[in-house]
Amino acid sequence: MNTFSKIGFILAVAGSAVGLGNAWKFPTMVGTNGGSAFVLLFILLTLCVGFIMFLCELYIGKTSGLDPVGAYYKLAPSNKKAWSLVGFSMIGALLIVSFYSVIIGWIVYYLYHSLMALFNFTSLNVDINENAKLFVNLLEKNVTAEIICFSIVFFLAFWVVSRGIKNGIEKLNVIMMPTLFVLLLLMLCYSFTQNGFADAFKFLFKPDFSKITSSSFLEALGLACFSLSIGAGSIITYSASLPEKTNFISSTFYIIFINLLIGLMMGLIVFSFIFEFNADPSAQGPGLIFISLISLFAKLGFLGKILAITFFIALFFAGITSAVSMIEPFVFFLINKFNMKRIKAIILLGILVYILGLMCIFSTISDTKDSLTFFGMGFFDILDYLSSNIIMPFGSFMAAIFVGYFLSCKDLYKTFYPYTGDLGFKVWYFFARFVAPLAVIIIVYFKFKG
Ligand code: PHE
Repeated sequence: MNTFSKIGFILAVAGSAVGLGNAWKFPTMVGTNGGSAFVLLFILLTLCVGFIMFLCELYIGKTSGLDPVGAYYKLAPSNKKAWSLVGFSMIGALLIVSFYSVIIGWIVYYLYHSLMALFNFTSLNVDINENAKLFVNLLEKNVTAEIICFSIVFFLAFWVVSRGIKNGIEKLNVIMMPTLFVLLLLMLCYSFTQNGFADAFKFLFKPDFSKITSSSFLEALGLACFSLSIGAGSIITYSASLPEKTNFISSTFYIIFINLLIGLMMGLIVFSFIFEFNADPSAQGPGLIFISLISLFAKLGFLGKILAITFFIALFFAGITSAVSMIEPFVFFLINKFNMKRIKAIILLGILVYILGLMCIFSTISDTKDSLTFFGMGFFDILDYLSSNIIMPFGSFMAAIFVGYFLSCKDLYKTFYPYTGDLGFKVWYFFARFVAPLAVIIIVYFKFKG
């Protein structure tokens, strides 16, 4: 059968969760939100909100065995059509994969650049301004490089999904996730030998509550949802292929743990370098990884080149395992709903995503930027904004409401009880009905207000 193995499921969902959210957004946001306080909030919200809604989506996928649209349709006790519309939040995943693949493309570009530096065809620059120029040049002028790198990512991701759950997605994750972990562990060991490590540790873990503001609270909640891949159909879809009799509670704990661990490892690695060379952790913005880190690696000579290559391979693995989880929901839907062949679904969606991806690329290129700016926002940012700030919070909110208020409590109890016991179930149920939805309302309210 085309379902995951138990370990395959954990690795695949962890692969979906661990991505540029942990590797790129997390260190950047920690940097700009004052460090430890933000980390603490992120952990808290991941456990109290993300984890709860994650289990709601897992339940929806597991009990229906269907894609998001089909799942809501099948499980809804009434108003089936209206509920099945909620499943279309999986469109969010398609929007994300369009710009996400462009970012993974940048990673491929920097991987290539670091490899060329290793063989002395080019060099890594120590000067931050030079690196900023390289990055800006890639985004604004180097359209050929961007399209080539994006296309590599695009074809790889769609090819993996075309091979299905077991032979494509599971295999990819079983290979890439442990490798990613080993690569990060090696880098962490190296950072440990540096003086900057102690400062990075302090920066990430010594609580400083004076830095908590209402906006960091909201950003942390948004990141917790994004990072757990909830609200865009990925978790529902993967859970539909959950092997029978899996202890889904312990699997979820493993997944959340891996996701947090890798985020923190990433943070320790990046900030060890930042502090080692006295760079400013808050002044980096999204260029943290593509600009500052390159300068820092460059200072380490040959070793730095090896570290850069290791780092970008790890990032690439983290990204690609998430990208496939964004494609599968819609593919699964087309297969179920229209009896479509997998390959036909892949081609249809591929054309759409490729066009959206190209539009993202052209929306940062100087010559074409203006024609791809709408309401003062570039196409790239619009996709990010729509998916992360609107569709995903909506999708996860509705999942919690659906499970908390519309599904039979008795059925939920029967499924959860063997793994959570009575008290565990009650706590989860309370959080699913009240705490998690309220938290999402708060984020959205402040996002629109602010
Ligand atoms: N969780 C992924 C990350 O952290 C992003 C993602 C969003 C994956 C939505 C799937 C669906 O990068």
